[in-house]
Amino acid sequence: MKKRIFTGLVLVCLSILPTMAQWGRPVDYSAGPGLKDAYKNYFTIGVAVNKTNISDPAQTAIIKKQFNSVTAENAWKPGEIHPKEGVWNFGLADSIANFCRENGIKMRGHCLCWHSQFADWMFTDKKGKPVKKEVFYERLREHIHTVVNRYKDVVYAWDVVNEAMADDGRPFEFVDGKMVPASPYRQSRHFKLCGDEFIAKAFEFAREADPTGVLIYNDYSCVDNGKRERIYTMVKKMKDAGVPIDGIGMQGHYNIYFPEEEQLEKAINRFKEIVNIIHITELDLRTNTESGGQLRFSRGEAKPQAPYIGTLQEDQYARLFKVFRKHADVIKNVTFWNLSDKDSWLGVNNHPLPFDENFKAKRSLQIIRDFDAAADKRVPKEDFVPNPMNQPGQEYPQVNSEGFARFRVEAPDAKSVIVSLGLGGRGGTVLRKDKDGVWVGTTEGPMDPGFHYYHLTIDGGVFNDPGTHNYFGSCRWESGIEIPAPDQDFYAWRKDIPHGNIQQVNFWSESTGKMQTANVYLPPCYGKLVKGKNGKLEQTRYPVLYLQHGWGENETSWPVQGKAGIIMDNLIADGKIKPFIVVMAYGLTNDFKFGTIGKFTAEEFEKLLIDELIPVVEKQFLTKEGKWNRALAGLSMGGMETKLITLRRPEVFGYWGLLSGGQYAPDEIKDPKIVKYIFEGCGDKENPDGINKSVESLKAAGYNAEGLISEGTAHEFLTWRRCLYQMAQSLFK
Ligand code: XIL
Repeated sequence: MKKRIFTGLVLVCLSILPTMAQWGRPVDYSAGPGLKDAYKNYFTIGVAVNKTNISDPAQTAIIKKQFNSVTAENAWKPGEIHPKEGVWNFGLADSIANFCRENGIKMRGHCLCWHSQFADWMFTDKKGKPVKKEVFYERLREHIHTVVNRYKDVVYAWDVVNEAMADDGRPFEFVDGKMVPASPYRQSRHFKLCGDEFIAKAFEFAREADPTGVLIYNDYSCVDNGKRERIYTMVKKMKDAGVPIDGIGMQGHYNIYFPEEEQLEKAINRFKEIVNIIHITELDLRTNTESGGQLRFSRGEAKPQAPYIGTLQEDQYARLFKVFRKHADVIKNVTFWNLSDKDSWLGVNNHPLPFDENFKAKRSLQIIRDFDAAADKRVPKEDFVPNPMNQPGQEYPQVNSEGFARFRVEAPDAKSVIVSLGLGGRGGTVLRKDKDGVWVGTTEGPMDPGFHYYHLTIDGGVFNDPGTHNYFGSCRWESGIEIPAPDQDFYAWRKDIPHGNIQQVNFWSESTGKMQTANVYLPPCYGKLVKGKNGKLEQTRYPVLYLQHGWGENETSWPVQGKAGIIMDNLIADGKIKPFIVVMAYGLTNDFKFGTIGKFTAEEFEKLLIDELIPVVEKQFLTKEGKWNRALAGLSMGGMETKLITLRRPEVFGYWGLLSGGQYAPDEIKDPKIVKYIFEGCGDKENPDGINKSVESLKAAGYNAEGLISEGTAHEFLTWRRCLYQMAQSLFK
């Protein structure tokens, strides 16, 4: 909630970086190309449709934009289209075909022969007695010819036989009351009447009727070792005997935990040995641990899905599509089973699809669509070392020379572990259990250089990583990791130079009715006696920079993760600045209540800063007084405070700095004489144009303004360390 408030505030008031939208503003994940376009060099993308999907304009718009393959969810199944001898229900079946014809979308014909939703009348005569297999074949042939001839103009592939193989894990089975070793075949009426010959016949009839269409054997649980081998053996046997099977359909009714990529690849690679066409015919990812194609789905209670479940689903979709892309030499189509969660045969509460129950695209859609082809082939360099921020003796997290981060978490009974750190808009990095039962994972690519906060989400609960130290951010102590930056020397400890110190100052604040804390950086030379103008020994007085943290942070953020003291020591040692004091106080930014943010004025902090903190600092330390010896700067929300306070109280501060915290406009200040120097900076992944334009306009209006765009960084501490380093060099001159 607080992040959302902050985002709204920042976006509305400061209009900084558009990428922050993902923090709270509703995002249209369907904006951008359709899935079919994103995958045009890989495979077609399909969807199974029902009656409403092809009649409601909002839904047809989704279909037309995203998909270039359509399967009729039920309308073409034998039991639906041909429920009795001589009775044909072409109505809905034709509507779907016509929708596709009109919109130039090709279809997968599903399905010609299946044990379920079948035209069971084919097995009995008018008196209800079982027919001979020859009669059955005659009927099946007529059925297949009729359906295929009616629709083959719009169909490119047929699921000729569906689910003819037995499920995993049954060494024995009862057949006609006797326990016998389990058959590799499903004991369907088809099989009982004809043995596996019905499979061959169905494919032969389909080939007769459609000499060019792709003929598919379609089944679920293809990633189970046993079932995979049964399917393989059957298809191989058939093909060796000349049965026209062109490809295998892997249904893909999976879930957010299953399958592992290796298991999926095993099946694809195995099937590749005998076919060169694979379709993923019925993809959906349940948010529970069930899988497979049988009707034992769980509809669950009607409740929204927890965010971490969404993250697991996005990650699983990303992993599966990465495997699909890798095998695009054989995978020619990937079809989602249903358009939206509302339509899903698994029930809306399984949330299995990239469109939600209101037909709104989920982030899964964006993640599937906006893949990075280069990243598909990327493997991190194996030169990982423990991160310098780790607790003593902790081996993980680790970072490699390219900036990939690797995590390892022991949580033996957990079902899921997510690290909140990851690439590009994803919910983080989802860890997987390794062979020792320990959760491990590596970011998909290099992280931005510099400091990042992160946490673990274990089965929905939020925890810190016991491997690292904690840093105050997001209104709590979070784990932190440091990715080496090319310019990291400017904030590195140096043994050969004098170091200042940071003192904690506690003071009573009448306005807030509590003790408040500030951290005060004193340069190495502070307090030393030096010869004054008249030859007398005296102590030097220093100007003061008041430096504010961002939302969710506190007075420790600049000294610790900001490395403000180290940066100051290095600047002073290198003669780049004349020493000054830096005061880093708690800016009260974390206490905003929902609904009050639009009225944020920074008045409380202004009172504390000017009436309470500055008098304490100027009394307790060797400071120079007056506005030309005071600077105020802040990052993010601290920048917003800075802007509001400097504009209201220009008589207090002579130097102003906004670090990823918005911009000044010349007509807001009105008088170039009231400020000696304005600094504005941000990361190049934030709003560099805004900063550049603002700095130009300030300069044109006669202000001494300077901007900094930090390379390769976003709204994070490396941006602000660099800003401090740059800004400090122009203060108090
Ligand atoms: C499902 C449909 O989605 C449901 O509406 C129907 O009640 C049952 O069948 N494997 C298949 C599909 O090949 O045809 C099934 O479709 C899902 C499992």
